[in-house]
Amino acid sequence: MENNIKNVEEELESNLSKVESLEEIENARVGFLGKKGKITCLMQQLRDVAAEKKREMGMKINALKQKAEGLIAARKEAIENKIEAEKLKSAKRYDFTLPQKACEGSLHPRSIVQKKVEDLFISMGFVVEDGNEIESEFNNFDAVNVPANHPARDAQDTFWLSTGEVLKTHTSAAQNRIIRKYGAPCKAIFPGRCFRNEALDSGHENTFFQLEGVVIDKDVSVANLIYFVKKTLSSLFGKNLEVRLRPGFFPFTEPSFEMDVQCPFCGGKGCPTCKNGGWIELCPCGMIHPKVLEMGGVDPKEYSGFAFGLGLDRLVMIMNAIPDIRFLNSGNLKFLKNFKLD
Ligand code: FA5
Repeated sequence: MENNIKNVEEELESNLSKVESLEEIENARVGFLGKKGKITCLMQQLRDVAAEKKREMGMKINALKQKAEGLIAARKEAIENKIEAEKLKSAKRYDFTLPQKACEGSLHPRSIVQKKVEDLFISMGFVVEDGNEIESEFNNFDAVNVPANHPARDAQDTFWLSTGEVLKTHTSAAQNRIIRKYGAPCKAIFPGRCFRNEALDSGHENTFFQLEGVVIDKDVSVANLIYFVKKTLSSLFGKNLEVRLRPGFFPFTEPSFEMDVQCPFCGGKGCPTCKNGGWIELCPCGMIHPKVLEMGGVDPKEYSGFAFGLGLDRLVMIMNAIPDIRFLNSGNLKFLKNFKLD
């Protein structure tokens, strides 16, 4: 047995000294340490060794096994290093300090539309405000007349933080802060990212943008609301568009409406963009609820106002004939490179 061990050891050393490739080293591993390898066979032969020699022989075979594992691993590493060094030698060399070809970036289609809407409202005397993405429960819900346990909270399931704050579900979450900041009269728009725990489809994202507007003054009426939204949409689409109001429900506006715009692509005749209906649902809106004005520190007996919440992503989709909202957050450069600010 002792001789057998010695022979296998010599064979191992001589074999490994000739090995040059990863394939050969794998063959050597299998040949010595595999199921039917030479060292594994030595282990099996241990059964036939006399009892008083078993322990000594067992230790020798184990030592040989460890030696084989060590030698094979070291040889494998040496071969891999050699291959890597050869690859580097033959690789094309780059001078990273050379000036690069100019790489032209582009604005996200949402930023392009947002800028157009902002410019338009600025030209009508509005201020543009920013909203937070993380909001207090009060601002997101209570301050817009959606107290705890109100069923309207279910329609805007969102992501709650351990602090008790929420990722804002709508831009209306900024209404209270802005009404407090400007008081009355006030004309402001506030675009922003919103979050909802939604089932995703071509029209719904969990992260999307809205653009909200509020106007508060003496004698503001539904007629003013229709004028502003109609003017905005007509300017954006570059033609006079018809709008229609349908009754809607929002706890923070009374009365509440859904404003549809006549399909700018078919003029109301029906086409794939308007799903053959001739109208596109675009802008929920309404007259600001007296309670919301009151919570913002404005006297509802003296002032009235309207608010609207444009779905910015939907607007971008309609303006650019984008069939699926998920393209917008995809980060897909092939898609994003198609848009330019004109
Ligand atoms: C609201 O969020 C109200 N805060 C809007 C409002 C403001 C009404 C002021 C009255 C006065 P709604 O849940 O319907 O309403 O959302 C408004 C718009 O946001 C929708 O019309 C739609 O265009 C867009 N939107 C809502 N959920 C999603 C979503 N998951 N993915 C993409 N866009 C969405």
